[in-house]
Amino acid sequence: MSDLPPKPPARPERVSLLRYVRLFRQDILSAQPAKLYRAWMAEFRTPFFHSYMINQPELVKTVLVERPDDFPKSDRVREGLEPLLGNSVFVTNGEVWKRQRRIIDPAFEGGRLREVFPAMWDATQAAIARLSARAGHAPIEIEAETSHAAADVIFRTLFSIPIEHEVAAAVFDEFRAYQRTQPLVNLAAFLPLPRWLPRPHRRSTRASAEVIRGLIARLTEDRQAEIAAGTAPDDLATKIMTTTDPLTGERFEAAEMVDQVAIFFLAGHETSASALAWALYLLARYPEAQERVATEAVTAIDLEREDFSAISKLSFTRDVFREALRLYPPVPMMVRQATQEECFRDRVVRKASQIVISPWHLHRQPRLWDNPDGFDPDRWKTANGKQCQREAFIPFSAGARVCTGAGFAMIEGVLLLAMLVRTFRISPVEGREPVPVAHLTVRAKDGIWLRLEPRQPPDSLR
Ligand code: HEM
Repeated sequence: MSDLPPKPPARPERVSLLRYVRLFRQDILSAQPAKLYRAWMAEFRTPFFHSYMINQPELVKTVLVERPDDFPKSDRVREGLEPLLGNSVFVTNGEVWKRQRRIIDPAFEGGRLREVFPAMWDATQAAIARLSARAGHAPIEIEAETSHAAADVIFRTLFSIPIEHEVAAAVFDEFRAYQRTQPLVNLAAFLPLPRWLPRPHRRSTRASAEVIRGLIARLTEDRQAEIAAGTAPDDLATKIMTTTDPLTGERFEAAEMVDQVAIFFLAGHETSASALAWALYLLARYPEAQERVATEAVTAIDLEREDFSAISKLSFTRDVFREALRLYPPVPMMVRQATQEECFRDRVVRKASQIVISPWHLHRQPRLWDNPDGFDPDRWKTANGKQCQREAFIPFSAGARVCTGAGFAMIEGVLLLAMLVRTFRISPVEGREPVPVAHLTVRAKDGIWLRLEPRQPPDSLR
């Protein structure tokens, strides 16, 4: 095992167009040549599409932060996700999107995060109980477990129900079926491949999306009734459904709320699950860092009470989680569309070109980061790490369209990571080094396998 954590193999520099398209559809990460990491900008020109990847902080800032209205999400993104997400905030643009953010954003402000903390705590305890039953036995495929835990967090914080609730469990199960029907739940589906290639919406995908949306509609309709009766719990769903847009005075209609819940479920559990699974793998691989997290968790967290302020004391754990988000950004690439001709690095970018922003490449840009492919959670305290965190670290995107759940995810991820490592000693399984691939999020090709042993107390406190 090399000292560097796994990175997918790059493709040979020269390949035929057909091979490139094929590789691309299998996995975007290994379809790229190694030299792309060093590039500030790259052009992909084929007979069918014309896109540019930008991998320079100034350009990324122009597109995401300074002029987001000139670079909306491309229609392809909407097409790819429409069956499940309808008109959700993730895919809309312009005035519709702005109105949706005005209603959603207040639910994720700092104060509200403190209020949802007990629900995250309960989900963490439930994850520990599930894993305790299996620890000390056969290796565990941890992505399935982190998905379960992250879905539990979403249902508890949004609707005050655990994942065992009949409807929550049905959504979770159906979502797995949805992914199975979608071999193209792969970012390739969202990039501008030619129209004649098969589009991702098979009949089974649509049917599965409809089942999920029907289940979510039951939850939102019940909640609307509880709000009307004055019996609704004070959770994220109630907050979002009772918030009026300060400009128009409107609230979400029931159907629109289904779209939003679908994206909270999808964006909120797939991503967090991916980040947590990679963070656990990294700690299994680097046991010294694991001991530091375990010790910090024992010192910072009082098991007797759900103490929100403990999160601010988990600074090394946060640095590890950040390092996992850097090395394995759950959303590896984002696509925007140029609405007018642009000039980037003295090159003309034609109107309607696709602009690809790749956290995956930016986070490993060797001209910016010291030791770009290495695992070094202490980097965030160095001058280089601090500068790169400001300029070249975008796991949650940046600017107006930044992830609404970023603050939420940084609390959930750090809490789960600290508590799991405090409870279990984690080690890798020989011969099963995970290979990162880009599905909807960055996952491992054949799962992430770990051994868990109950630990108590951590080595350094003995
Ligand atoms: C580690 C966890 C997470 C990561 C890495 C992550 C990453 C991202 C990224 C990169 C985007 C921008 C995508 C693009 O512009 O194409 C995004 C958008 C979004 N995320 Fe997250 N996310 C995470 C967790 C969450 C959670 C927990 C929620 C909600 C509970 C959430 C809700 C959303 C929503 C609603 C958007 C769309 C925002 C918009 O377009 O205005 N995310 N996320």
